[in-house]
Amino acid sequence: MRITLVRAALLAAKVGLILNALNALNALNARPAAAAETAAAAGTTVKIDNFTFTPQSLTVKAGTTVTWINEDDIPHTVVATETAFKSKVLDTDDKYTFTFTAAGTFQYFCSLHPHMTGTIVVVPAGGGGAAP
Ligand code: CO
Repeated sequence: MRITLVRAALLAAKVGLILNALNALNALNARPAAAAETAAAAGTTVKIDNFTFTPQSLTVKAGTTVTWINEDDIPHTVVATETAFKSKVLDTDDKYTFTFTAAGTFQYFCSLHPHMTGTIVVVPAGGGGAAP
């Protein structure tokens, strides 16, 4: 009887270990989805840091509002080469937003450091159906 109890306890311990392992696997499996959501949220943001726009080229659908955030410790601007948009001087942590209503390729640069350049590619919002 005692041996059986010991075996039962060992078995329960093993089951516990397996469940822990399964939970760990589930946690791992859940990560890609969370990462994808983060990527989607970050998909309309351009970071400015170390004299660089990141991503250098961003593709969005028409109607998307793009946010630039200056995470550098010096001021920068966001100025479209073809005058479609122009921010004021952005200090550290300042944001600038612009909503792209028309499809096209929009090159921009920092007027304080013209070697800083980036591109927003706006594709038609369509999807085959009627506009919402
Ligand atoms: Co700059």
